[in-house]
Amino acid sequence: MAETANAVALNESQIPEVPAEAAAQGSKQTVDPWNVQGEIGADGQIKAINYDKLIEEFGTKKIDEELLARFERVTGKKPHHFLRRGIVFSHRDFELILDRYERNEPFFLYTGRGPSSDSIHVGHCTPFMFTKWLQDTFDVPLVIMLTDDEKYLFSEKRTIEEVQGYCDSNIRDIISMGFDPNKTFIFSDYDYVGGAFYRQITRLAKHITLNQARAIFGFNDSSNIGKIHFGSIQGAAAFANSFPHIFGEDEKKTVGIPCLIPCAVDQDPYFRATRDVAARLTYQGVRFAKPSLIHSLFLPALQGPGTKMSASIDSSAIFMTDTPNQIKNKVNKYAFSGGKVSVEEHRAVGGDTEVDVAYQYLRFFLEDDEELEKIRVAYSKGELLTGELKALCIKELQTFVVAFQERRAKVDDAAVRQFTDIRPLTWAGNPKVPKADIVVPKVEGADGAEGGDGKLTKNQLKKLEKQKQIEAKKAQKAKEKEGAAAA
Ligand code: TRP
Repeated sequence: MAETANAVALNESQIPEVPAEAAAQGSKQTVDPWNVQGEIGADGQIKAINYDKLIEEFGTKKIDEELLARFERVTGKKPHHFLRRGIVFSHRDFELILDRYERNEPFFLYTGRGPSSDSIHVGHCTPFMFTKWLQDTFDVPLVIMLTDDEKYLFSEKRTIEEVQGYCDSNIRDIISMGFDPNKTFIFSDYDYVGGAFYRQITRLAKHITLNQARAIFGFNDSSNIGKIHFGSIQGAAAFANSFPHIFGEDEKKTVGIPCLIPCAVDQDPYFRATRDVAARLTYQGVRFAKPSLIHSLFLPALQGPGTKMSASIDSSAIFMTDTPNQIKNKVNKYAFSGGKVSVEEHRAVGGDTEVDVAYQYLRFFLEDDEELEKIRVAYSKGELLTGELKALCIKELQTFVVAFQERRAKVDDAAVRQFTDIRPLTWAGNPKVPKADIVVPKVEGADGAEGGDGKLTKNQLKKLEKQKQIEAKKAQKAKEKEGAAAA
């Protein structure tokens, strides 16, 4: 797959993090962790990404009505509009997660982000919106990985200091999506690697050969060895035993706890490899759980459905720092229209919502199904003009971005620590069923040796100690208050 690739405008291979070895000339569509682009037609135009073809190529399953009906039965909740509209369109073993939820057996959510710039855009937000909804729906722990190491290894220019800086601001952005601090652990690879997590990384590394890494990711002899190894890091977070502070130290229990990974479909290669390894791992006779996946398609670039928004191409994206006016101007100026050239022709023939970017954005951001359908019909019939459709889209985007900015302004250092400190999480799972096999998070402190035996590292212990002190202080204060009230 990485052998096919790109040729024309908005070529993601211009972006520094793209491995040169993955870019080649060709006209087929490319979707891998570094390149996302639709097929280039005979006319030189990029076509919309064909997601059904991806399902076939990747060997995943389409999310169908039956699965959604089961989801609704099991959770008692109407499926998110991303699910209803095929924005979250494909999966691997999602039904196994529903089985576990039904029995209230533990599982967790895992997602991540590569901190490649300070400026996140609405395209980055959509997987997190969906992940937050999953967390609210299932009431389970969520781990969010920031792959600062990945962004350093895969870029010619970026320094470690630079990616770590992005990490800090990206964590604040992610928090602003509204996650619950009691159930969410956000970590950067540079900070968290060590102990149980590193042990799991080496398990994966030991079970992936150079040949496999080449076949899955398209690396070659000139690829730096950090890239070749990176898949074992991204994969290791898919296992509960990488997080003893959340799931406890007893690996015999934790290796069997699966995760559900909501991600954009370009991340699938990483987890295909991870699932293959999982199938071959056991711990003292207990099988490792294979991670389940649920894939979303990309929010298109303003230029059209053949590519995704890019943080390094300002005119391709709506940034979370854009003002309402900037949003309006960008959509009006750049959003690819499925409308006709003249008003007369548009009224006569109607517009094409499949390629119309303003309409596509409404599918992501306008929750009301009936209203969306009205818009679709009116536009297709030519009753609604491009300018009018864009105005509707602009309004939804402005509302979303402004609300985000208000939450973002409130995220302070203390809030960041609430999410990043090494600490136990609390969750209840399925309220209708008593918790099966409750894993009591037990974090052993001082007596644990450091490093490769799965115990916490020095840094992690320090953080934990700090956390304990803060909690002790809090308890002390509460006591004093009580005392004062009683007096
Ligand atoms: N590699 C991803 C990126 O560059 C980040 C990531 C790490 C991730 N783990 C993940 C994304 C799990 C989705 C799910 O953005």
